[in-house]
Amino acid sequence: MQSRAIQLEEGKEIIVPGGGRTGLNKAFPYKLLLLLAFFLAFSGAFIIISVTTIKYYGINSVVTSVTSSLVACREKPNVLDKWIKPPLVLMHNMSDEELLWRASFMPQRKDYPFDRVPKIAFMFLTIGSLPLSPLWESLLKGHEKHYSVYIHSQESSSSEFPPSSVFYRRQIPSQVAEWGLMTMCDAERRLLANALLDISNEWFVLLSESCIPLYNFTSIYCYITKSKHSFMGSFDDPSPYGRGRYDGNMYPEVSIDQWRKGAQWFEVNRELAVSIVKDTLYYPKFKEFCTPACYVDEHYFPTMLTIEKPAALANRSLTWVDWSRGGAHPATFEQPDINEEFFARILKGDNCSYNGEYTSMCYLFARKFSPSALEPLIQIAPKILSS
Ligand SMILES: *[C@@H]1O[C@H](CO)[C@@H](O)[C@H](O)[C@H]1NC(C)=O
Ligand SMILES: *[C@@H]1O[C@H](CO)[C@@H](O)[C@H](O)[C@H]1NC(C)=O
Ligand SMILES: *[C@@H]1O[C@H](CO)[C@@H](O)[C@H](O)[C@H]1NC(C)=O
Ligand SMILES: *[C@@H]1O[C@H](CO)[C@@H](O)[C@H](O)[C@H]1NC(C)=O
Repeated sequence: MQSRAIQLEEGKEIIVPGGGRTGLNKAFPYKLLLLLAFFLAFSGAFIIISVTTIKYYGINSVVTSVTSSLVACREKPNVLDKWIKPPLVLMHNMSDEELLWRASFMPQRKDYPFDRVPKIAFMFLTIGSLPLSPLWESLLKGHEKHYSVYIHSQESSSSEFPPSSVFYRRQIPSQVAEWGLMTMCDAERRLLANALLDISNEWFVLLSESCIPLYNFTSIYCYITKSKHSFMGSFDDPSPYGRGRYDGNMYPEVSIDQWRKGAQWFEVNRELAVSIVKDTLYYPKFKEFCTPACYVDEHYFPTMLTIEKPAALANRSLTWVDWSRGGAHPATFEQPDINEEFFARILKGDNCSYNGEYTSMCYLFARKFSPSALEPLIQIAPKILSS
């Protein structure tokens, strides 16, 4: 026995018998009248609203909205494209919460049912502009199928790059990020999440405006894609600047022997990137209990990933940096510092493990370089980047 319920404004319901003769009873004429009255009132209201709308917005808008909803109904749904085509416009108005939720979607099946060319996402975390961009342009040009670029910049730089640039319209919605604070990790998660929206991105490299590449694209792509590990710096530092920053309130999510430290400039694969954006377990602990002099951007990702995916980590960074001058900040290199001996020191001066074997090729990127270093770097780049 079917019956329809009409919701009244007060929340009461009128039960309308339908689809059967058995529903008729003594109250029928009264209920029918009430229904009729209700219907008339509803139609009247509809006509008044329609007339007012047409008067205010013109007949066109009413007609267009009707047609566009018809078109939407008729449109052929190509559902797969929606999932595998990268977003054409990087700007969006999703909140961080919405973005991280969306970015945490992950296919559970082993293979992709389409031809997927895996890309490296170069993610630039900057304060202002990108003074060394010409170096990155010459690195990336011609390799469009194998990379994508994202910029998180605290200053809008929308009109800075011409359409021919690899940086053209690659800025993502950004917010203020402060060194040593959770807002820095938030910015890194925002970069990862935006880059995850392109299903082709398989490796994610975090860079700053003072970073330079040390090899040509082919070498960098090969080194990253053939590696069995992701390059997140992560080590157990027993000193006051390591374990000394641990807060017992993080227990049991994080224990002191799980506490790690590492430079923030990482390279992670898609699986680890998803682990980072989906994390809601460690995030609140670090946000509350790792505040200066605990610098959260040196501890959150290394510790979290060491707990969750230890075997996936190389425990070293791909970004060379010089702490030998001492102090709270690494050395910044200027124009006079740039010469071939300097690069020989970076390129051959170390010994590290790669897929279980020792190599002197330990770094693919280096920092920090001031804008004044650009000219000599451009001079020397053809020698460096093609060797
Ligand atoms: C984003 O924009 C859409 C329409 O353009 C709007 O419906 C939505 O409320 C906006 N969301 C936020 C978080 O501003
Ligand atoms: C990195 O460190 C973790 C634990 O700290 C360890 O399990 C892992 O094997 C290390 N990775 C390499 C490549 O040695
Ligand atoms: C690199 O370090 C490993 C272990 O410390 C050592 O066995 C190897 O000989 C070193 N290689 C070079 C070229 O120094
Ligand atoms: C890139 O560098 C490698 C060696 O590191 C070299 O063999 C190769 O020819 C270079 N590729 C280009 C396109 O210059």
